[in-house]
Amino acid sequence: MAASEAVPYAKTGGLADMVGALAIELTKSGHHVTLLMPCYRGRATGEARQLAMRLSVPVDGKSIDVTVEEENVPVSGALHRLRVLFVRYDPYFDRPGLYQQDHQDYPDNLERFVLFCRAVLEIVRGLIETRAEKVDVLHLHDWQVALCAVYLKTLPYEYKGLDQLKVLLTLHNLGYQGTFPGQEFVKTGLPPSLFSPSGLEFYGAVNCLKGGIIFSDAVSTVSPTYAKEIMTAEYGCGLEGVLASRADGVVGITNGIDVVTWNPETDSYLPAPYTAADLSGKQTCKRALQRELGLPNRDVPLLAVIGRLTFQKGFDLLVEMIPELMYLDIQIVVLGAGDHQLEQQFIASKAGYPHRIGLYLGFDEGLAHRIEAGSDVLIMPSRYEPCGLSQLYSLRYGTVPIVRRTGGLADTVVPFRPSTVKSRCANGFYFIDASPDSLLSVLLLSIHVYKERHTWQSLIHAGMKADLSWDRSAKLYVELYQGLQSRRKES
Ligand code: ADP
Ligand code: GLC
Repeated sequence: MAASEAVPYAKTGGLADMVGALAIELTKSGHHVTLLMPCYRGRATGEARQLAMRLSVPVDGKSIDVTVEEENVPVSGALHRLRVLFVRYDPYFDRPGLYQQDHQDYPDNLERFVLFCRAVLEIVRGLIETRAEKVDVLHLHDWQVALCAVYLKTLPYEYKGLDQLKVLLTLHNLGYQGTFPGQEFVKTGLPPSLFSPSGLEFYGAVNCLKGGIIFSDAVSTVSPTYAKEIMTAEYGCGLEGVLASRADGVVGITNGIDVVTWNPETDSYLPAPYTAADLSGKQTCKRALQRELGLPNRDVPLLAVIGRLTFQKGFDLLVEMIPELMYLDIQIVVLGAGDHQLEQQFIASKAGYPHRIGLYLGFDEGLAHRIEAGSDVLIMPSRYEPCGLSQLYSLRYGTVPIVRRTGGLADTVVPFRPSTVKSRCANGFYFIDASPDSLLSVLLLSIHVYKERHTWQSLIHAGMKADLSWDRSAKLYVELYQGLQSRRKES
């Protein structure tokens, strides 16, 4: 498995959670997983790393020397360890941010991930040729590693020993395609003929994800609804045609969550543990959260926002409604970072209602856990959401999600309706139009239901009892890998 981020080593969003948790789950069920990722600044964990390989990687007509560090992570309940290999090249990866600094992408992101992709293939070659290991499938995640598929399939002479290797590409977010100015194509080291509409060219730019979609043996994404949505112009971000041209389609597998890390009964970030049977600790978490974010300890609905502050997440719909919402006896807490304008809007909202709104702009893993635990409602008004993990964490923490009906949000939130309430499976609320008014209506409904304690408890219980583990979804990935394996035998 190759990815640019994975917990606990490097994270900017759900990609890291998904890759880290899937790797662990597959290891637990007896598969030998090697996770390949860049070695970023200060991301070491307690485990000692050993030097595993020294490689010479071809990049832009030169050879770059990189080292590969190895960590073998014990996985509880597994017979063997998860192997993590870090590609170390400090000029590219020993930097303050993963992809950007001060809201600006690094200008050499293409070179950085070309190097990483080439290194991934050299490592796989090393495992097969030097260590005589068997590598069945290369599972790629997102644009940063998509070029691995392109090199492998279009440079057969360079990668002779790897011609049987099957490649799965998982799309976590079509909003990030790794596009670079056309004149940078030369940096990929690929034949110029590939800079064409049937290759990596995309409206004059280089598009790494497009290359991955074309040259991978299979493509998947992180929920069935998003798999359908991305075939349309509204959600395909310009790649809908390329996706639709894949004869085998795009498989949608809903993400699970790491139920060990995200467990309100054992979560060490929380001031008090709790379970579905005894929610008293959740009240303690709520009071502690109010104190932490400078809000008075009051028993009013506490609404939360956690996430990257980007257009995708639709938090602007909420910001617009804050003056209206402040007529209600509620509190709001916000944890996020990103878009400068949105950050400023939240700062202004907080200044207007300092005792009603709690705000932390930045990235804080512990606070994310405490907000999931201490809030009553989590708001995710996403314009699109491939899967979404925050709403899954909130279900597990007894915090009722209010979401827009799109992508994985539609697949994981069972909306409040007479029938779903009766059958005790409602676990949240959704709205359809990406408009502030639609969001307001559903927020009003939820606050009304919050006061009906019995019904609210049943929403909490339905969420906390749901099976959100990786169990089922990891099996679906294994089936996909096996499908690719059988194609290998046929070919
Ligand atoms: P996405 O991957 O699109 O950002 P997800 O819902 O899949 O959305 O995953 C978001 C993950 O990132 C969750 O684990 C969430 O807790 C975390 N997260 C997002 N923003 C922050 C932040 N500012 N501080 C801490 N964790 C955050
Ligand atoms: C992306 C998506 C998010 C998904 C995550 C993990 O970051 O935006 O919806 O949950 O990847 O697959």
